[in-house]
Amino acid sequence: TWTTETFVEESIKDIRAKVGDKRVLLALSGGVDSSTLAFLLHQAIGDQLTCMFIDQGFMRKGEPERLVEIFKNKFHIPVEYVMARDRFLKQVDGVTDPELKRRRIGHEFIQVFEEESKKLGPFDYLAQGTLYPDVIESADTNVDPKTGERVAVKIKSHHNVGGLPKDLRFKLVEPLRKLFKDEVRNVARAIGLPEEIVRRHPFPGPGLAIRIVGEVTAERLNILRDADFIVRDEISQQGMYHDYWQAFAVLLPIRSVGVMGDKRTYAHPIVLRFITSEDGMTADWAKVPYDLLETISNRIVNEVKGVNRVVYDITSKPPGTIEWE
Ligand code: XMP
Repeated sequence: TWTTETFVEESIKDIRAKVGDKRVLLALSGGVDSSTLAFLLHQAIGDQLTCMFIDQGFMRKGEPERLVEIFKNKFHIPVEYVMARDRFLKQVDGVTDPELKRRRIGHEFIQVFEEESKKLGPFDYLAQGTLYPDVIESADTNVDPKTGERVAVKIKSHHNVGGLPKDLRFKLVEPLRKLFKDEVRNVARAIGLPEEIVRRHPFPGPGLAIRIVGEVTAERLNILRDADFIVRDEISQQGMYHDYWQAFAVLLPIRSVGVMGDKRTYAHPIVLRFITSEDGMTADWAKVPYDLLETISNRIVNEVKGVNRVVYDITSKPPGTIEWE
């Protein structure tokens, strides 16, 4: 029978048998899949594993620091932290089209990944947090026809953009490939990953960059990061984080008039997007209690400079999408 403990034991054996004394590279995103993967690999092969975390500058407040801290202090897994915020910001400079924004970010990710893996490498294997549904979806598209072995052609968190260059097509280690998301969460809990990672809301690869409608600037990122923090802080404090599939803030590039004290303000609105969903394919806007909306709105307008209005999105999916870009 399948238990989490036997899964962990078996996976560690399988990883050792497959990898031998070779080196493995893993791109850590902070999500539950790549975090669980890192833990399993580290248990199996120790310092033959290199975990790379690329800081694009589009993560939520405190997230990169927290991730590195959890891995270093709790699991004693070293993380190669790659500071790449300026490069990514440059890539999206002046870009307003959502798909172009995604492509630019995706390509830059591959670029940084390639440069860094050459610096840290060479590596024989790439570890990916492929799950069972991903295996079915991509069927035989990344099987080497000669050896029948699955090879890496894309980075999972950026599956919708570009591919890996030919000389970066490592062989794959995918110990989660037989699992569904729920099973990954069970494994994650069993190995002691904190609940904040285990049950984290889905977060898109391009991060906050696609939650700023239109042009992304450092200033707008700061505004959105602070507003988003307040949203998460309030729903966590009120024990409501798990009531939603996702709950986040979106920054609009327009400005509107307001008044604060005896001064006229002219600043950005923040949109609150709270949804319930089973799988992200369809979604309902959440019927959030008015007093929660009130608290969040007051806090954002009072605490975040550059915002003078908060609105609530009452569109389900379809016809809306979950994200605004
Ligand atoms: P939409 O906006 O299409 O979102 O209704 C559905 C789910 O997918 C996430 N999402 C993304 N995830 N890269 C990702 O890794 C992306 O470019 C991307 N766009 C949307 C979104 O957060 C939601 O959970």
